[in-house]
Amino acid sequence: MRLKGRSALITGSARGIGRAFAEAYAREGATVAIADIDLEAAEATAKAIGSAAYALRLDVADQSSIEAAVKAVEARTGGLDVLINNAAIFDLAPIVEITRTSYEKLFSVNVAGTLFMLQAAARSMIARGKGGRIINMASQAGRRGEPLVAVYCATKAAVISLTQSAGLDLIKHRINVNGIAPGVVDSDMWDQVDALFAKYENRPKGEKKRVVGEGVPYGRMGRPEDLAGMAVFLASDEAEYIVAQTYNVDGGQWMS
Ligand SMILES: NC(=O)c1ccc[n+]([C@@H]2O[C@H](COP(=O)([O-])OP(=O)(O)OC[C@H]3O[C@@H](n4cnc5c(N)ncnc54)[C@H](O)[C@@H]3O)[C@@H](O)[C@H]2O)c1
Repeated sequence: MRLKGRSALITGSARGIGRAFAEAYAREGATVAIADIDLEAAEATAKAIGSAAYALRLDVADQSSIEAAVKAVEARTGGLDVLINNAAIFDLAPIVEITRTSYEKLFSVNVAGTLFMLQAAARSMIARGKGGRIINMASQAGRRGEPLVAVYCATKAAVISLTQSAGLDLIKHRINVNGIAPGVVDSDMWDQVDALFAKYENRPKGEKKRVVGEGVPYGRMGRPEDLAGMAVFLASDEAEYIVAQTYNVDGGQWMS
């Protein structure tokens, strides 16, 4: 029960990694807002988790939706202790085919969504005066570029940078901002990644997934629950002195 009595909001937690975080937080005693653009899926996830979870509709690309979600958490639980900025979207294209529409969509969800969620949470935590924890989902994609993944990689590099700046700015309020950088995790997002690689690299469906899984030193792709331990730790009392870091949780793929 390392998160007993804490109130958490996890963006994009109707499925995938965010859902695994929500399940782990509920097991550790937290109350969790399953905040997702897909309200129906969020409601189903909250129901499956039980009384520790509740669903909220949230579009992290929309400022009024962000503010409404933070207010809803305050009204329901008395205040926000932990935010996980987990919602993100993916796209892939060679440099010469990237569209402005795709660029703007990815940056508005992955970067502006992270920054303005973080800002709204920080304002709420500062007003309450009890500090807090903010965890941003980065990626191995933010550590180096990839030929077909320029825009997504750039968004995740921006998340690592925002984690550093926000971490340094907010620690005076006892708000610890840190990040997690997964490698390759078997989720709906990776099904989309695989389908896009199949198209651009002329591969059979499923092959990219198999190849990247074999390339992980641990010996397989990650599973959403492989990330949950770090998300619990960063929200726990044990992580009090950790500020502005992004941790690789990737089966040994990246060293830094
Ligand atoms: N899967 C991987 O291999 C991998 C690797 C590195 C990093 N990550 C990161 O981990 C996080 C979770 O990834 P995942 O694989 O579980 O993704 P996913 O696509 O399976 O789930 C993302 C969730 O976010 C929600 N969402 C999308 N847009 C939203 C918006 N505008 N507002 C609110 N919710 C929105 C979706 O409805 C979905 O429930 C993301 O930040 C992703 O970039 C994933």
